[in-house]
Amino acid sequence: MMPWAVTAQVNRTNGSQSMKYTFPKNFKWCVATSAHQIEGYNRHSDWWLWESQGKVANKEHTQVAADHWNRVESDVELISKLNANTYRFSIEWAKIEPQEGVWDQGAINHYVQEIKLLKKKGIEPFITLHHFTLPNWVAEKGGWEWPDIPTAFERYSEKVFISLTKEAQIQNWITINEPTVFLAAGYIAGTFPPGRKSDLSALKTPLVNILKAHGKSFHILKKLAQVKNENIQVSMAHSMRVFDPKHSWNPLDQIISYYIDKIFNWAVLSAPITGELVMKVPFVVSIDEKLPEIKGTYDFIGFNYYNHDLVSFSFTFPFHKFEPTPGAPVNDLDWEIYPKGIYRIITEIHKRFPQFSIYITENGLADATDRQRKDYVEDHLIWVHKAISEGAPVQSYCHWSLMDNFEWEKGYGPRFGLYEVNYETQQRILRPSGHWFSAVAGQNGFNSDKDLR
Ligand code: FCB
Repeated sequence: MMPWAVTAQVNRTNGSQSMKYTFPKNFKWCVATSAHQIEGYNRHSDWWLWESQGKVANKEHTQVAADHWNRVESDVELISKLNANTYRFSIEWAKIEPQEGVWDQGAINHYVQEIKLLKKKGIEPFITLHHFTLPNWVAEKGGWEWPDIPTAFERYSEKVFISLTKEAQIQNWITINEPTVFLAAGYIAGTFPPGRKSDLSALKTPLVNILKAHGKSFHILKKLAQVKNENIQVSMAHSMRVFDPKHSWNPLDQIISYYIDKIFNWAVLSAPITGELVMKVPFVVSIDEKLPEIKGTYDFIGFNYYNHDLVSFSFTFPFHKFEPTPGAPVNDLDWEIYPKGIYRIITEIHKRFPQFSIYITENGLADATDRQRKDYVEDHLIWVHKAISEGAPVQSYCHWSLMDNFEWEKGYGPRFGLYEVNYETQQRILRPSGHWFSAVAGQNGFNSDKDLR
């Protein structure tokens, strides 16, 4: 039996039919967060400054955020109640190295302690080294455009690995989360720091540096693990969206949708496999950068999936429009809910790169009333199950998010948590969908009367 074999069994009772979806043995049932979005007190980061300049919706600011920094012990308890066997979270570079070359031992000890607490509960830490934020001192040198950032990131990765794995093994690592998202927001839309509004060609320098930083981080982590005789898994988490032409008969919609898919979904994801960054759209952008040093720097392919977009051509800049399928369900942010998309992505990744196992590193939705969340997760999991049953080696499902948090430029409005957070009292309340998730994770599967196939 292949290690990722699954079963889907049909049970019939009283004429009605239900399906039992069982996931592979050792499947990672995971919940995800990032440091800046929940911890608070990230004073030395570029995002703190950005928020202080009033750049976030309603002038909101992380300040204490969900005060996770002071609530690690009880929050680990919350993860354990969800029966998650894995917790994906990020380490905050700005806290570990608030000034160049100055390491904050207190912050390091804090994460060491968090990992101990997780391990004690039987929860595997799944670490992200960069989740959108940078220390201010790095931003001042040019952020991802600073020629030495790959080396600085390598040093930080080394420090984190050595400090955090002294007493505990950490198997799974993400170097950098969603490069296309934070670059598009930071350099094209201007909604993330550094707040530029340029065209695609402005992405070249930061993108090449991100890939180099990933490569260096991958190599140093693997080397350090090898010395300890440990087998670790390192990769990136890519944002994957499903794009379809709005009018399938319209060649302009087809072409623009084709290029957006190519650039947004595949160009960066493929680079550590091929050793080359290729982003080419006639008359728009022409990047072809050989990066032999990053070739072979994935142990798995990690992706985050949220939604589907219909793409249409527009004669004005930026020459395209995204919209949800008319009549399709949407979440609180008007993102189209399209569970089959997760299947389309998994099968496409598996077709292109069959040698890699696949980790779903984020999936979830903004749903303040929790009316849609359980069905959203259930439907996505049924499609994941189908992909696995057809041979795709999916090894994890990380739900975004463990708890409500600071949703970047949108502030605290969107509610992504399995736990609701009351920001006045910092009370956490398990949502009904969270109850359901804990049963699923506890039983490694679920019964459902849905058969979406
Ligand atoms: C992803 C980010 C994560 C969160 C979710 C909703 O793009 O990785 O931090 O904002 O979207």
